[in-house]
Amino acid sequence: MFLMKDIVREGHPSLRIKAEEVNLPLNEEDAKLAKDLLDYVINSQDDEMIERYDLRPGIGIAAPQVNQSKRMFALHIESEEDPITFVAINPKIVSHSVEQTYLTTGEGCLSVDRVIEGYVPRYARITVKGYYPDGSPFKMRLKGLPAIAFQHELDHLNGIMFYDRINPTDPFAEIPNSTPFERNTKED
Ligand code: NI
Repeated sequence: MFLMKDIVREGHPSLRIKAEEVNLPLNEEDAKLAKDLLDYVINSQDDEMIERYDLRPGIGIAAPQVNQSKRMFALHIESEEDPITFVAINPKIVSHSVEQTYLTTGEGCLSVDRVIEGYVPRYARITVKGYYPDGSPFKMRLKGLPAIAFQHELDHLNGIMFYDRINPTDPFAEIPNSTPFERNTKED
């Protein structure tokens, strides 16, 4: 399993390069990576595991964050109205709403050890495609926190950090055509 020491932090080159497509079916190494990423997000929301392994809670983690430049990430969101838990391989956004959204509390990231305030504009609704680790394809519509988290993790596969999207001169400037999203919980 991954621990905080395995997660690379901002400044690491792995976070700034476009990750490579993953071959399917997954080889043994990539299958283990998929499982370890999912285990991290699940364990990091379990009080006992947090305590035992000193984990920082996160709802998503992408392979580049553990220094693997591969198009793969895990999401685990159970506290909101639209729970999701899965690993996405070679994920894509195939269509999105014109309407935008943003987290009223801003975004955080397991690879960023400081609070960076400001609104991060995201599409309010997305239709996404990709593959599960067993090689089967998925296509789903996401909204709310799952949509925001999916876009945050997809950005990691393209070398983009959440703060790249914050308005540099006015971090809390109104996001055009948007409905704000209020979170119930506070994992990154
Ligand atoms: Ni992140």
